[in-house]
Amino acid sequence: MKAANTVCRCDLKEELEKVIAQHEGKKDDLIEVLYWVQENYGYVPKDVQQIIAEKMNIPLSTINGVVTFYHLFSLKPKGKYEISLCRGTACHVRGASRVLERFEKELGIKTHDTTDDNMFSLEVVRCLGACGLAPVLKINKDPRVRIKTDQVPGIIQELRNAAE
Ligand code: FES
Repeated sequence: MKAANTVCRCDLKEELEKVIAQHEGKKDDLIEVLYWVQENYGYVPKDVQQIIAEKMNIPLSTINGVVTFYHLFSLKPKGKYEISLCRGTACHVRGASRVLERFEKELGIKTHDTTDDNMFSLEVVRCLGACGLAPVLKINKDPRVRIKTDQVPGIIQELRNAAE
C-alpha cells in the first residue's frame, strides 16, 4: 500500500475520473477500480463510492458490499502506524493470537480497525516469510520478530513517543 495515513486526497478526483473512464461499461472491473482507490487514497471513502456508483452505473449498495467484504479495502483512513500481525501457521503455533488479543486490548480496537486518534490500525496478514522468527509483525513496512505479549505495551509506547 502506498499511504498508511492518507486523510484528504481531493487532488485525486481528476485521476479517479480517468481511471473510471478506462473501465467504462466494464462492471467486472469494479475491484480493479476500488483497488486503485485504496492504493491512492489509503481507503475507500463514501463519496468516492458514490462517484463510482454513478459513473459505472453500479448500485452503491453493491460497491459498499464489496468494500466491506474484502479486508483489502478499508472504509476509514489507516492510522499513522499500521500494525500487521502474521496469522500464518508458524506464528499461530507460537502465540500470534495472544499477541493480537493484547494489541486489541491495549489499543481498545478490534482487528481491521483504527484508533480514534488515527494513530494505530490493526490488521492480520498471511505468512510474512520469516516463520523461523515467529511470531512476526510489521509496523508499516518494518518487521518485528519473536514478539511476546508482554512487549506489546512497550511497542505502542515507543510508537507514540516517536510520533511526538
Ligand atoms: S507464519 Fe508468520 S512469518 Fe510465516
